[in-house]
Amino acid sequence: MCGIVAYVGHRQASEVIIKGLKRLEYRGYDSTGIALLNGALNVYKKKGKVSELESYLKGLDLDSHIGMGHTRWATHGEPSDENAHPHYSATKNLAIIHNGIIENYAALKQELLRKGHQFLSETDTEVFIHFIEDIKEKEKCPLDEAVRLALSRVVGAYAIVVMSFENPDLLIAARKGSPLVVGVGKGEFFMASDATPIVEYTNEVVYLNDQEIAIVDNGKLTIKNVANLPLTPYIQTIDIELEAIEKGGYEHFMLKEIFEQPRSIQDCMRGRLDAASNRLILGGLREYIQKLVHADRILIVACGTSWHAGLVAEYFFEEFCRIPTEVEYASEFRYRNPIIREGDVVIAISQSGETADTLAAIELAKSKGAIIFGVCNVVGSSIPRMTHAGAYTHAGPEIGVASTKAFTAQLTVLNMIALIVARQKGTITEQKYHEMLVEMENIPAKVERALALNDTIKTLAAEFKDVRNFLYLGRGYNFPVALEGALKLKEISYIHAEGYPAAEMKHGPIALIDHEMPVVFIATKDSSYEKVVSNIQEVKARKGRVIAVVTEGDTQIPKMAEFTLAVPPTIEPLMPLISVIPLQLLSYHIAVLRGANVDQPRNLAKSVTVE
Ligand code: G6P
Repeated sequence: MCGIVAYVGHRQASEVIIKGLKRLEYRGYDSTGIALLNGALNVYKKKGKVSELESYLKGLDLDSHIGMGHTRWATHGEPSDENAHPHYSATKNLAIIHNGIIENYAALKQELLRKGHQFLSETDTEVFIHFIEDIKEKEKCPLDEAVRLALSRVVGAYAIVVMSFENPDLLIAARKGSPLVVGVGKGEFFMASDATPIVEYTNEVVYLNDQEIAIVDNGKLTIKNVANLPLTPYIQTIDIELEAIEKGGYEHFMLKEIFEQPRSIQDCMRGRLDAASNRLILGGLREYIQKLVHADRILIVACGTSWHAGLVAEYFFEEFCRIPTEVEYASEFRYRNPIIREGDVVIAISQSGETADTLAAIELAKSKGAIIFGVCNVVGSSIPRMTHAGAYTHAGPEIGVASTKAFTAQLTVLNMIALIVARQKGTITEQKYHEMLVEMENIPAKVERALALNDTIKTLAAEFKDVRNFLYLGRGYNFPVALEGALKLKEISYIHAEGYPAAEMKHGPIALIDHEMPVVFIATKDSSYEKVVSNIQEVKARKGRVIAVVTEGDTQIPKMAEFTLAVPPTIEPLMPLISVIPLQLLSYHIAVLRGANVDQPRNLAKSVTVE
């Protein structure tokens, strides 16, 4: 959601922080700010992107060895200079940056207003730092103790960093529900919402757990929890390569990530799948795999693109494992008092591993005794740490807000899980199982072939860049792909797009079709091919403009469609891994031609850590 970065050490803090904020900008980007200690505790903040803050800072004396910065995705109060973080306390001796929501801030604010506090912003965060200072003055205690006492009284989610004018070598951070990582360098420390701003300086990190407070004071890191229990910092070594978080010659992260898919799918299978020896192993599942094998029902919870991956997985689990499967929006699941019986297994899918709704759904399912599996991309994030077992997607850092390579990696992992379970259950024949493994190994090369459509799609995008609506239709395994294609387009180009099962078109969306309406059919050769051909006829009869994703060698649909995009053939369950590629490229090129900010589309955030 919001991005946090803080630094103390021998470098110029402002340089580390601005660079870090740029790396974190994908998390939120409606306003930014920085606090430095140079003579006073100075806060500089601006509505807009990090580049705007940078221009504002030009020429100022920013000399400081300690500081913190924030890039915001508004929750309380519109994006503005005032609402941007950091926020000062009443005396301006303290400043805070915050990711998350303090739910009881209104009551705290009333309490403080009665005491004469004045607030400059509409944010819950400003209330929080006033509250911390108020406790510090009342209790006459050190700052870390005041932070701890304040945290024990707030309700909500937070990752915070606090700085003080009176303690020029002190940074205090804490988390509950929002991620926070502490980087441990040689005589220097970093704090950030994820490891991306840290990896170029150190690969030694400590992931804070919920309710933990990290205190860096005079070059020493100590950790305790909100209950005041001292804890030993658990330092982990991470292996994110710097090039993985840079654009590497591509114009946008999204394009880079689309083109990375042959490799990310390969990385996802590496060491896990070997068709020659018929071997398929997911180490993180081993201990709990029997729970899945004997599951009466699988419940999948996720949001956004991960929810679409869940819809494809529903087909995998029902077809291969014969286990009834339901796919739920995490946000709906948790407020529905869902029925979870013994024998139900929950699978949570999340790229970031931090999505608040998905986390809350897991907590609820856990409280009802369910066994939870996680399918996540970000190593060390909250969901993998909350689940009983799981498998990482190993797609590498995904920075573009619109998810692409994480989706195909999720499909790859979910397919592998289904095959392992099906084989143990005996619901798949050895021949089919082997055929699946062989074909999975072929997928990266086929994705590469689908990527060769890039130039054609660029031309196609020019043709459709000014339309106002799009319809995406598919059946079976390609139905979730239609939803994903529509989501990609609306996310980054702001064109209204809807995905539907092709057969449902006649129950409503057909009313929208006229000579201006582009309809994207995902019409690859599969068991519902003939039916989709009929659906294309129905659109043509109403003068709709048909763009069809077909299988190479198809001669029938190209005669009917205005544009065809031919992708390599594969077996039906694996087609989404290939058929989604042209749709990702189509939305990308349309958005670029419309001048939209592809990597940071308006109003969206990569990792949504608020409900
Ligand atoms: C946000 C992102 C989407 C993503 C969704 C779920 O809305 O913009 O791209 O699909 O969150 O995120 P997750 O990290 O849980 O997969």
